[in-house]
Amino acid sequence: MQKIILTGDRPTGRLHLGHYVGSLKRRVELQNSGAYDKIFIMIADAQALTDNADNPDKIRENIIEVALDYLSCGLDPAKSSLFIQSQIPELTELTCYYMNLVTVSRLQRNPTVKAEIQLRNFETSIPVGFFTYPISQASDITAFRATTVPVGEDQLPMIEQTREIVRKFNSVYGETLVEPEALIPENEICSRLPGTDGKAKMSKSLGNCIYLSDTEEEVKKKVMNMYTDPGHLKVTDPGSLEGNTVFIYLDAFCRDEHFAKYCPDYKNLQEMKDHYQRGGLGDVKVKRFLNAVLEDELAPIRTRRKELEKNIPAVYEILKQGCVAARAEASKTLADVKAAMRINYFEDEELIQSQQERFNQ
Ligand code: TRP
Repeated sequence: MQKIILTGDRPTGRLHLGHYVGSLKRRVELQNSGAYDKIFIMIADAQALTDNADNPDKIRENIIEVALDYLSCGLDPAKSSLFIQSQIPELTELTCYYMNLVTVSRLQRNPTVKAEIQLRNFETSIPVGFFTYPISQASDITAFRATTVPVGEDQLPMIEQTREIVRKFNSVYGETLVEPEALIPENEICSRLPGTDGKAKMSKSLGNCIYLSDTEEEVKKKVMNMYTDPGHLKVTDPGSLEGNTVFIYLDAFCRDEHFAKYCPDYKNLQEMKDHYQRGGLGDVKVKRFLNAVLEDELAPIRTRRKELEKNIPAVYEILKQGCVAARAEASKTLADVKAAMRINYFEDEELIQSQQERFNQ
């Protein structure tokens, strides 16, 4: 069986470090590993519209931002098809058929949907399109016969629901769809990088994000203002690592060679942590180090982005080509699905002939 990746992001804003360590960086590594036969990366605009129906321009503006973020991180259109969800009508059609295989109560039990309904205060006025987006996500994944879906941990219930739909479909209509597996970050911290204010998650509405497209000055400012240990007032005070955002980020980003390069006082993160806990290591020094570590990762991304920004039509052309490739794949799956569901009337010569014979009798 072919190894196929599908994953994507909602274009509701520029991508940030949470997206980067949670999924984006891994995608690039998987892409470059050569271990996959096909890779599809989707800008999920239709899904973004499920809770932004009244703000289509926000989605429209952010398609290019996400595409630029993708390309500047190293997603390569020669190896991965980058495409826009709404341009693949086959996905909507699949969703419509899968809807018959999912109960309302099953959707109500989906933990991600549950959490998002609370977060958005939808309560009794949940848009139907939003409520059913896990089914649409199952279409995204199965349309490409994806075996592997690299995502953050918060997406696990979506993959589980997709697997259920696949099993249900295959048991009712015969083996047709491929059951996908989620691939989540190995490093747990990367699954949910906190915001710069120490809050549980990076989120645009909380204003606690470091964006991949932030300037060097913006990143530095955000790092220097990061939440640390509020009890660590004097350099000589012992510091705590618990909930200390700067150290959480170091856990996610720093490698031993960063110490040799930017902070030779320590051999590795453990030594730095020990000193902090003993007392005698100030926040400013740790923050300067973190800033250097982040710049190591972000500077090349920023440079590539600047280059790509000079030719926006070329980026749209990449997306357009990606849509062509994606559509070719999705329409094959849709044809299989319709055949399995016995709604392929015109392709079925035998159906027409055998009915003719019946009427002739
Ligand atoms: N739900 C994902 C998110 O919010 C985006 C997405 C849509 C997706 N369809 C997908 C991710 C299919 C993986 C596979 O980020």
